[in-house]
Amino acid sequence: MRIDLLSIFPKMFAPILNESILGIAQKKELVEFFSHDIRDWSDNKHNKIDDKPFGGGPGMVMKAGPIVTAVEAVEKMDDIPSRLLVMSPQGKRFDQKMARELSTEKRICIICGRYEGFDERIFEVLEPEEVSIGDYVLTGGELAALTIADAVVRLIPGVLGSGDSLESESFDNGLLDFPQYTQPFEWRGIKAPEILRSGNHALIEKWRREKAIEKTKARRPDIFKD
Ligand code: ADE
Repeated sequence: MRIDLLSIFPKMFAPILNESILGIAQKKELVEFFSHDIRDWSDNKHNKIDDKPFGGGPGMVMKAGPIVTAVEAVEKMDDIPSRLLVMSPQGKRFDQKMARELSTEKRICIICGRYEGFDERIFEVLEPEEVSIGDYVLTGGELAALTIADAVVRLIPGVLGSGDSLESESFDNGLLDFPQYTQPFEWRGIKAPEILRSGNHALIEKWRREKAIEKTKARRPDIFKD
């Protein structure tokens, strides 16, 4: 998979993308990231890519011209057509289902905004999908894009080792994870549940399912399916 990230702060990406699982995924050549500075496509000698909103009001608006030319130029850098996303709190809410769907794409191009938003005409011309990572406002789309990249890339076959099973993940089965314990069995006077060292796999499986159901009903009744 190829992921292009467009931003006016492109240096924000590398520290996250080059660590841990995302770094390993690049070394395994399962994903390639390209960061682009939108200012490289500014239409003036001061590299300005924003301006005051028509009609007045606070803040600055990202101009349509630099973003649209940046996206057009970046898309031409490879023959593979890309799925174009714009990070925005007004977008469709990102979830595990969308992550699964995006993990099957060959190329994703993500536009990250700053300031008070974009000139609306970028939506008319580029017809991107607006995606939000949650009902809160970040200072920009960069952390949202990294969140999406992380959730998507770990689902690409071969990215996670065989030890990191994807089979029974939270949200896939409509349940949160069951509680986990490891050594020592008793720690600060708190024992792990006895059943987990019973060796009875059927009983352990049943206990874990019950605990997952309990936790989901208590914390996330909105995702619980009877
Ligand atoms: N940009 C600012 N806030 C955002 C959010 N919640 N999701 C995606 N992009 C954003």
